[in-house]
Amino acid sequence: MKVIIRNDAHEASLWVAHRIADAIKAKAAVSDKPFVLGLCTGSTPIETYAELIRLVKAGELSFKNVVSFNMDEYVGLPVEYPESYHSFMFRYLFDHIDEPKENIHILNGLAEDLDAECEAYEKAIVKAGGFDLFFGGIGEDGHIAFNEPFSSLQSRTRVVTLTEDTIRVNSRFFDDDINKVPKQALSVGVATVLGAKEVIVLATGPKKARAIQQSIEGPMSHMVTVSALQNHPDGIIVVDDPAAGELKVNNYRYFKAVEAAENR
Ligand code: GLP
Repeated sequence: MKVIIRNDAHEASLWVAHRIADAIKAKAAVSDKPFVLGLCTGSTPIETYAELIRLVKAGELSFKNVVSFNMDEYVGLPVEYPESYHSFMFRYLFDHIDEPKENIHILNGLAEDLDAECEAYEKAIVKAGGFDLFFGGIGEDGHIAFNEPFSSLQSRTRVVTLTEDTIRVNSRFFDDDINKVPKQALSVGVATVLGAKEVIVLATGPKKARAIQQSIEGPMSHMVTVSALQNHPDGIIVVDDPAAGELKVNNYRYFKAVEAAENR
C-alpha cells in the first residue's frame, strides 16, 4: 500500500484529481476501450471533482470515453432529493463535464427489486470491462462505500443497513435530524472495490485520523473495511496532515521518504 501525505485537503484533492486525469489520458493514448471509473460521494471528493471539471473546461481532459459507476446510494430517497447521491453527482461533477449520460451508472435506491438491482450492477461492471480505477472516500469508522464494520471483505453489491454512527454523522445533510436519514443503502462491496486495477482512497481532516491509523497500521479487519486495501496490489491512501495525525511518527516519515525517493 502506498500512502501519500499532503499538507492540506486542497493539495491532497489536487493530487487525486491529477492522478485520475493522468490515468484516463494514459489509457486513451493506447486503447479505444472506455476507461472504467468508480466514483464516491461525500464532502471529501468535492475539491477533486472541481479540479477535474477545471481540467475538462480547459480542454486538458475529456470524459467522453469514460464509463463511471458510483459506489452507493440511499434506499428510498427520490432521485431529485438534494441529498440523494444522484443529485450530488450531477451537481458536483456530471453537469459540468462531457461524460455521456448513458455512461453514468448510479445504483437505483428506488428499484422495486433491490437485490436484482445490485446483481445487475455487478454484471454491468463486468460487461464494461471492470474498473480501471476506483476513487473512494471513507467514513469516520473506516467504512468504504457503505461497507459498515463487520461487512465481509468478500462482499459484493448489495442492500446494507446503516449503523447508528453513520446515520448520526450523515444527519448533517438531513437538517441534523437522524430520523430523516435513510436506514438502508445500496453499496458496492469491498470485493467490488478491490476488483479495480487501482484503488485510490482520499481522507482529509482530523475526524478521519483514527480510521486512517487503523487501516494503515492495524490488521486487515472487517471492523475497518478500508483496511482491506492492504490486500490490494495497487492501493493508494491519500491524506492531508490532520488525517495522518495518528500515524506513528516513524511510519509518517517512512511514507514521506518513499515519496521523495520516487520523485527524485
Ligand atoms: C458516506 C458515503 C461514503 C463516504 C463517506 C464519507 O458514508 N457512503 O462513500 O466516503 O460518507 O463522507 P465525507 O467525505 O463527507 O466524510
